[in-house]
Amino acid sequence: MVAGLSSLVLLCFCDSLEILNKMASDLPKLAMVSIDWDLIDLIEQNGDFDLLGIFDRADVSNLRGLNLLGSDSDWEKVKSEYAGLKIVLAIDPPHIRSKLYEHYGAENVISAISKASYISTRALLSAAIIVQRGVTIMPHAFLGTGCKIHINATIHHESKIGDFCTIAPGAQILGSVEIGAGSYIGAGAIVRQRVRIGAGAKIGAGAVVVKDVPSGQTVVGVPADRTLKREH
Ligand SMILES: CC(C)(COP(=O)(O)OP(=O)(O)OC[C@H]1O[C@@H](n2cnc3c(N)ncnc32)[C@H](O)[C@@H]1OP(=O)(O)O)[C@@H](O)C(=O)NCCC(=O)NCCS
Repeated sequence: MVAGLSSLVLLCFCDSLEILNKMASDLPKLAMVSIDWDLIDLIEQNGDFDLLGIFDRADVSNLRGLNLLGSDSDWEKVKSEYAGLKIVLAIDPPHIRSKLYEHYGAENVISAISKASYISTRALLSAAIIVQRGVTIMPHAFLGTGCKIHINATIHHESKIGDFCTIAPGAQILGSVEIGAGSYIGAGAIVRQRVRIGAGAKIGAGAVVVKDVPSGQTVVGVPADRTLKREH
């Protein structure tokens, strides 16, 4: 019995050592482009990567102890120092995230999917996406490359979200909606079933979209019948 107990202690000790060693060195290195603290939480909680630092044109006062690796133009140099370094794109505006995806290279950009999200096994997900905690993705929904889905957003059945769209916290995309590439859906917006939103559109926070939105337009309101005229 004593022998059994000491093996158990040894086993626990080995497990802890293994975890510590893994924390210290085994995890692949990851760099984040721009700072998103919610995404940093996700990366740490998933525990699959060791966050090496941030690429940003940075206001370094925001770093709070994070390591600044440089700006986008330093990528090749940093990559040559850390073989296998991966990238996660935190930046919110869709058109910038899309450009940075090209800059950092598709083969280097990872997806980050919270274990506290719900994703139907019938949903179809593309590469380089971010899915935050509390997100629900229902059967036969589709997420294009580079989509960023913030906390508590819901993508209902059969909706198609185009490449590099950003869906802000708590937005509800109802069933069979189509959202064109590079669109931004504001926090808490609701997009009614079967509505089509054109590429590069913006939907204001809290809007309720009940009819189609042409490409490139910004709409706000409940219902979302006010179009903002200026360039966004
Ligand atoms: C729609 C949006 C992109 C417009 O931004 P903008 O071009 O800077 O617009 P402005 O703030 O200059 O506002 C222009 C007008 O639209 C109105 N407006 C702006 N956003 C609105 C919204 N979400 N709902 C209703 N009206 C809105 C403003 O009151 C203003 O009205 P006025 O001309 O009568 O004074 C922005 O307001 C928005 O809602 N962004 C989403 C924010 C979000 O969800 N963030 C999540 C972070 S994770």
